[in-house]
This record gives sequence, C-alpha cells and structure tokens, in this order.
Amino acid sequence: MYLLSPSMLSADFAVLGEQLARVEAAGADMVHIDVMDGKFVPRISYGMPVIESIRKVSGLVFDVHLMVDEPIRFVEDFKKCGADVLTVHYEACTHLHTTITQIKRCGMKAGVAINPATPVEVLRYILREVDQVLVMTVNPGYGGQKFLPDMLKKPGRVMELAAQEKVSCPDIQVDGGITLENIGEVLAAGANNIVAGTSVFYGNIEANIAGFKEAFSNAVK
Ligand code: DX5
Ligand code: ZN
Repeated sequence: MYLLSPSMLSADFAVLGEQLARVEAAGADMVHIDVMDGKFVPRISYGMPVIESIRKVSGLVFDVHLMVDEPIRFVEDFKKCGADVLTVHYEACTHLHTTITQIKRCGMKAGVAINPATPVEVLRYILREVDQVLVMTVNPGYGGQKFLPDMLKKPGRVMELAAQEKVSCPDIQVDGGITLENIGEVLAAGANNIVAGTSVFYGNIEANIAGFKEAFSNAVK
C-alpha cells in the first residue's frame, strides 16, 4: 500500500490547523513533521510546543522526522507531545540501537533515516528493529530542493538487505524533491511512503494530493 505524508515544512504556519485539516480531508495518510536543531542541519524549524498544539486539532498520524543530534535525549518528550512515528538519523546517533529500542519502548513506531552519501548497507543490523527506513532524496535541511536521481537505487537495496537478513521489509519512505513529474519513477524504484512538501502545499492542495493519489493507483504493486 502506498502512503502520502505531506511535509508540514512547506505549509502556511499562520493557518497551520486549517492546512492540516485540508490535507487530511484530501486524503493524506499522515503528516510529516520536520524537526531541525540548527546543528545536525543548518536551520531550526519547530519543536514540541508546536506539535503539542496541532495534536489537539488533528487526527492525522504524526510522522516526526528528527534532524537533531543525539535524538535519544528527546524520545520521551516527542511521545508526550503526540508523535506516532519517530524517525532518527543514522548519522546523528552514537547509539542507534539503543535509540530505536527506546522509541519502541515509548510506544511509537521507529524509523531510521540515511543522508544521500550514506549507503544502505549500514542498516544491516538495525533493519529488524525498525518500522520505516527513510531514504533522503535531498540533503536534509531545506524544503524545495532538487531530487537526487542516484537515490533511486536505494529502495531496492533496502529490499535486498531485508531479504538477506530474513526480516520483513520495513516501509520505505523517500523525502525531498518529490513531484508529480518524478513520482512514477520513485514508486517504480520501490518506495511506498512518499513525503512531499512543496509539491503538496504550493498551488492547490486538493488537486496536488489528487495527483499523487492517481499516481499511486496507476503504479502496480
Ligand atoms: C528536508 C525535509 C523534507 C522537506 C521536503 O530536510 O526533511 O521533509 O520538507 O520538502 P520538499 O518536498 O519540498 O523537497
Ligand atoms: Zn523530512
């Protein structure tokens, strides 16, 4: 099953509750919430207080992408403010296994993200523990960047690795530069969870989501 996770980073923060209601009504499966710390990535976005307040007005699954150094420090806080899925970066965790274990112990689904220069192979011994692998298709830090086509090789590698390790394949999420123009090849590469910011929130939200849903139904899975 294909899932669409609109990235809130491109929403209009002045009317955030309204924008979330619109993506939900238009058929988004979850909302992708990018948290940036100004250290792991150059910018600071938003954090727990914002998530806590939108939790009160939205029934969407909160898919929180932490671009934060040593995120183990904040796992419980994100559970408390309403995260359902918590994804941490391989590159940001000294003790990735402990971090993932703690996310699950807190009752959230756990994801691991890899930057463009990081090979899928580093996930071999964590794959059985995670619900989601996030393949970054741009360098994290900004919305609206250009998709890196080399990253299309990675979803297939995740599937191979899962087969080699004899574990069921986690959801494969892709994030960055995904548009209605390249969605076909992204799905064909094996991703099943699609993050899209600019291409959902700029222009007509409902029409954009309908476009993604149509691409999902045209893809054979
Ligand atoms: C980038 C973020 C993305 C970003 C995607 O650091 O992780 O989620 O918001 O935005 P678009 O779809 O515009 O590339
Ligand atoms: Zn993201």
